[in-house]
Amino acid sequence: MSKMPAVYYYDEHPPEADFYAEVIDGLKHRPRRISPKFFYDERGSELFDAICRTEEYYPTRTEQALLQQHAGEIAGLIGERCLLIEPGSGNSEKVRLLLDVLHPSAYLPMDISRDFLYQAADQVAQEYPWLEVHAACVDFTAPLSLPYCPPATRKLIFFPGSSIGNFEPEQAEVFLRNLTSVAGAQGSLLIGVDLKKDPAILNAAYNDRAGVTAAFNLNLLHRIRRELDAELDPGLFEHDAWYNDTLGRVEMHLVSQQAQQLKIDGQLFEFDKDETIHTESSYKYTVEEFIDLAGRAGFTSRQVWTDPDNLFSLHYFDVGD
Ligand code: AVI
Repeated sequence: MSKMPAVYYYDEHPPEADFYAEVIDGLKHRPRRISPKFFYDERGSELFDAICRTEEYYPTRTEQALLQQHAGEIAGLIGERCLLIEPGSGNSEKVRLLLDVLHPSAYLPMDISRDFLYQAADQVAQEYPWLEVHAACVDFTAPLSLPYCPPATRKLIFFPGSSIGNFEPEQAEVFLRNLTSVAGAQGSLLIGVDLKKDPAILNAAYNDRAGVTAAFNLNLLHRIRRELDAELDPGLFEHDAWYNDTLGRVEMHLVSQQAQQLKIDGQLFEFDKDETIHTESSYKYTVEEFIDLAGRAGFTSRQVWTDPDNLFSLHYFDVGD
């Protein structure tokens, strides 16, 4: 008799981010800014998937190749039957590259987007009937407590995609420190980190020729217009992204093409021509810079894999020394 898939659901009822309050606040701030977490409505998530398939956006395929190539070695480092935890698991796509080789005792995807998380967890459980899946609807950027989980030899936290680059470096350190307590004394972290490189490659990756990244950025204005009933014309803004060498990050902006006014819930926002809204920072690290950052948070580097062109890095850390 074949084993039935086992999925357990755990809901911490994380408070929803207040889109209205954060947009108003961000537009009043100088320079104006809106958090990148608001990119990911349904359309934004589709556009992000499409970005990952563009020719210019190398991180996704490069990381996938590293995972495929080194999965056996990773399994050797963590051993069998770990508890595999993935904060911000989204569609749980990349973890599939690890499940067959790691053979974890359980997989614990965590995401704030409940429906998406539960659907992805059900799908993983269907495809891997031997695997126990514990889906946790939590805000993984807040200090985390784990739901009940079966005993495992060790915990491995998987944080791919260079999502760590979307945190300011100080926040990244706090986030990583939280992960050390989730992983516990014997725990480990497998994390994908985009590398510093020729700015021309970075600028192309965030300005793809087909305009998918531009549509992803501008979708934020469409979302504001739709959900906040705002009076604004997204056509009067343009996408811009460039590598800021001093700060070591790609910045994405929405640039006002003329002097104009936006109106949200009776509040007026006056824009000069060329004034921008900063919508995302994507920090890039050298291998050494990232090992230092994770070290300050309490992790010790055990292994780093990079591709032959040094575009992307995959780090394996243990908690403590
Ligand atoms: C999700 N995150 C790691 C992506 C990045 O590269 O910073 C988001 C993205 N923004 C534009 N393209 C991709």
